[in-house]
Amino acid sequence: MIDKVYCADVTPEMEGKRVKLAGWVYRKREVGKKVFIVLRDSSGIIQTIFKKELSEEAYAEAKKVGIESSVIIEGTVKADPRAPTGVEVQADKIQILQNVDFFPITKDASEEFLLDVRHLHLHSPKVAAVMKVKATMMQAAREWLLQDGWYEVFPPILVTGAVEGGATLFKLKYFDKTAYLSQSAQLYLEAAIFGLEKVWSLTPSFRAEKSRTRRHLTEFWHLELEAAWMDLWDIMKVEEELVSYMVQRTLELRKKEIEQYRKDDLKTLKNTVPPFPRVSYDEAIDILQSKGVEIEWGEDMGADEERILTQEFEAPFFVYGYPKGIKAFYMKEDPEDPRKVLAADMLAPEGYGEVIGGSQREDNYDKLVERIIEEEMDPKNYEWYLDLRKYGSVPHSGFGLGLERLVAWVLKLDHVRWATLFPRTPSRLYP
Ligand code: 4AD
Repeated sequence: MIDKVYCADVTPEMEGKRVKLAGWVYRKREVGKKVFIVLRDSSGIIQTIFKKELSEEAYAEAKKVGIESSVIIEGTVKADPRAPTGVEVQADKIQILQNVDFFPITKDASEEFLLDVRHLHLHSPKVAAVMKVKATMMQAAREWLLQDGWYEVFPPILVTGAVEGGATLFKLKYFDKTAYLSQSAQLYLEAAIFGLEKVWSLTPSFRAEKSRTRRHLTEFWHLELEAAWMDLWDIMKVEEELVSYMVQRTLELRKKEIEQYRKDDLKTLKNTVPPFPRVSYDEAIDILQSKGVEIEWGEDMGADEERILTQEFEAPFFVYGYPKGIKAFYMKEDPEDPRKVLAADMLAPEGYGEVIGGSQREDNYDKLVERIIEEEMDPKNYEWYLDLRKYGSVPHSGFGLGLERLVAWVLKLDHVRWATLFPRTPSRLYP
């Protein structure tokens, strides 16, 4: 590891100090007998200036170097209000590790092209800002989970059955058997609560969704929590506390990066504090119908309906009490209204919609078997899962949060794919 100073750590107060910088050429311009190179690294940028009179050799090298070349630059710090960060480095040494004559990404590149060369697009500080926000959101989640007493567990990805419906399973050959890629760790987390009570995991989840929407990926990062002894209302409290902590902490640590995308439009993020509004499915249908949307009780809300509903709110909110027919087999029937299940989704405002799906789980053996058969699934495939209702069953609840969806809302991205390092969609498996 070279002993370098990060670009963003060079401050006007360091005037006169000698520094060694290492990074990539971000911008370059020549004025008379001077070459200005704005250098970039993971921390930010710093302007360096090469004057012929200071070092003829360094000046000649700097003249040659192209955008995105990797370089090590040495020089002396000088405060200068005209420089982008109010300070520059008067350079007398440059080592070109690799000179780049032509970088394939130019200003007018199309979105499709940027995805084709995603491996090079990751040079961009604006893309790096998204990844920093995503990392900080998970750092915040870990902080919250640790102080609230949740155990991290590591469930399998190769599985034998569906959690969220057979239609979106990715199938693969597993020696002489068939296996699937996990859609959700939920069933395994449910098994883990019998020893650990409050558990969470972060895993890739896979959905063979053909739907090309701005909120669907075929591979996404799924943050899931499951807890014994909690009912739906308890788990909703966990959800709002976790999400508000993730958002507030990221605002605190990554304001600069968030502002790169949102400018000063931070109202909904600042509003993300508990309690979040709670709207029943019945009320949601009334709101939609009053706005002229053609939707009947019992129908699922798609992205369009959710977008319209989010116009009523300036922070994340819950929709709870969904009809049984549109929700998964494992959700507990509402004892007060058997047409419904004890389920709640969390929706993000500003048109984004669902970021979390959660529910209380059916803990009664006979009821669960009945639901599995109703859904035309084979109880034989769920024997181990049904065992959990035979040996010390307890009330329990949990939820799954799509990390890319949350990041997409926090940064107001127009598609979840921009919240991933290398997006996977029906038409994209490379790079
Ligand atoms: O609502 P979903 O399907 O719920 C489950 O998978 C539960 N088994 C989770 C649980 O209770 N442990 O998915 C949960 C969340 C969604 O709210 C969404 O944020 C995200 O996962 N998600 C996707 N994100 C990107 N692309 C997709 N194709 C997604 N499908 C779900």
